[in-house]
Amino acid sequence: MPGHPHPYPLEPARAGDAAPLAAMSEALIEQGLRPAWSAARIRWHVRDPDSVVLTARLGAGIAGFAIMRYGDEVAHLNLLAVAPAHRRRGVARALLEWLEESALTAGTFIIGLELREGNAAARSFYRALEYRELGQIPGYYQGLESAIRMSRDVRARRASTPGAHQQTP
Ligand SMILES: CC(C)(COP(=O)(O)OP(=O)(O)OC[C@H]1O[C@@H](n2cnc3c(N)ncnc32)[C@H](O)[C@@H]1OP(=O)(O)O)[C@@H](O)C(=O)NCCC(=O)NCCS
Repeated sequence: MPGHPHPYPLEPARAGDAAPLAAMSEALIEQGLRPAWSAARIRWHVRDPDSVVLTARLGAGIAGFAIMRYGDEVAHLNLLAVAPAHRRRGVARALLEWLEESALTAGTFIIGLELREGNAAARSFYRALEYRELGQIPGYYQGLESAIRMSRDVRARRASTPGAHQQTP
């Protein structure tokens, strides 16, 4: 797996992380909605061989996390959040780049995600990481808010990696 020289070590979550991650999802992502990401659901992803629950640690705590599930054609980014005190330090970028690299290795080249239409910060973040907006899904969030669907073809990473062409025999 790719390594990132990053002050927040990236580590796969353990089952015991499920409750704090569910609390982070409720507080940072699902505000105003019925929480859909219970500790049990997150624990399921921790154990699911087709999912990665990745954390950015800070001592004994968790600064950020992401959950991705890999399908044959598309890897779906289910959740991504960074605690407010640790934002704009590249934590989300490091989490997503790790997941992109693992998708590339797995041969799943498209990463898809939905985000809340009103989430301007996340929209800017995904645009900065070269995700394209594919369209809107009205009422996607419990009939209360629309989603924006976005995706990226991670093969673009290979093209932009210095020296990547040298791997071709
Ligand atoms: C969106 C979120 C995950 C970004 O996390 P982060 O760790 O602060 O992001 P990074 O530091 O890796 O940002 C990388 C780049 O994305 C862009 N970006 C990130 N946050 C931004 C913001 N609030 N406004 C504008 N651009 C932003 C910038 O280009 C940034 O690079 P820069 O800091 O050098 O300018 C974080 O704000 C968050 O957890 N929000 C609440 C939960 C959420 O919305 N999750 C995503 C939808 S599920």
